[in-house]
Amino acid sequence: MNTLSDARVSELFSQFFGSQPQALVKAPGRVNLIGEHTDYNGGFVLPAAINYHTYIAFSPRADRLLRVVAWNFNHADVLIPLTEEQIEDEQHPWSNYIRGVVQQLCRAGFTLAGGDLYIAGDLPSGAGLSSSASLEMAVIRALLNLSGETIDPTKAALLGQAAENQFVGCNCGIMDQLISARGQTNSALLIDCQDLSTRAVTMPSDWEILIVHSGVKRGLVDSEYNQRRQQCEQAAAHFGQTSLRAVSLADLLAADGKLDNLSFRRARHVLSENARTLIAADALANGELSTLVNVMGESHNSMRDDFNITTPAIDRLVEIIASAGKGQAGVRMTGGGFGGCVVAVAPAEVIPRLMAAVSRTYEQETGCVPTLIPAKASAGAFSS
Ligand code: GLA
Repeated sequence: MNTLSDARVSELFSQFFGSQPQALVKAPGRVNLIGEHTDYNGGFVLPAAINYHTYIAFSPRADRLLRVVAWNFNHADVLIPLTEEQIEDEQHPWSNYIRGVVQQLCRAGFTLAGGDLYIAGDLPSGAGLSSSASLEMAVIRALLNLSGETIDPTKAALLGQAAENQFVGCNCGIMDQLISARGQTNSALLIDCQDLSTRAVTMPSDWEILIVHSGVKRGLVDSEYNQRRQQCEQAAAHFGQTSLRAVSLADLLAADGKLDNLSFRRARHVLSENARTLIAADALANGELSTLVNVMGESHNSMRDDFNITTPAIDRLVEIIASAGKGQAGVRMTGGGFGGCVVAVAPAEVIPRLMAAVSRTYEQETGCVPTLIPAKASAGAFSS
């Protein structure tokens, strides 16, 4: 699955610009093991950075411009001014992530220097594996390297999130940027999104992560995502709070029938998911497979029944993997939802059985073509 490497992206830069790049940086995508739609509710998440990246090979320029070439978009070539005033580029929507980051870095007081950037990634886009957060983190690293400055990884994540919220128009939480910035090899990161504190959770050495792309391209993501966020805020408001983190599951359950059913179910997903995420972190740390399998299964059902963000093909994919795992594979949809990927965690010897079951039945039953993506928990952009 890995189609790129540092050497390959440096070579692509040289072929395009006619000289060696001065340096190369990369930032990983992520897979969320559990804790979905909890980050913007001040809750808990348990993602891992993965060994698929956005790479940027770059060299300085004499003017205050970025010339950016995108390998993943047919070598599209754009010029971006290094100023706070950025104009949305409808022709090259991918470049808006870069424009938003430039705007945020300028606002934060960084003095940026011009550069030629060659960007290439081996993360599938639209898969729910955070190719956009990895692009934001890689751009921050490249631009600060060009201007000879440094940044705290959590601050880098917050600037990336602000770029997406304010310039791109998706009201995302902090999980994707934070794990892309701060991921650790062989570990997932338990993040408390209320205060951004983290705890590295080392995976048992004989367990592996398997990601399966459902072949369902994510659709209507931004509108549905922003709507879920509003519904959660409404549910919190019922309790006189601005965040669901301030509401306990017991208080919510006691209010059944008093707030509208949709808000109740949205909040029940978030609050029960917070509890499951804490249980999953301990289960992963202690190698308690059956506990992990249970909470991942419950998480999927809650996303399906209470948060309504799965699709029939994805539900079927989860069933196929769970049944092939015979109680030895934790499996659930991962990411924002409405398509994208499923994540499974299982002992290494179980993984081939899961892959065989997917290849044998999924496409035949659903008409969707799956992609198997074996993954390793990897270092973040600012951790290596
Ligand atoms: C997207 C967002 C994250 C998070 C997940 C759902 O990936 O960018 O902030 O909300 O969806 O858990």
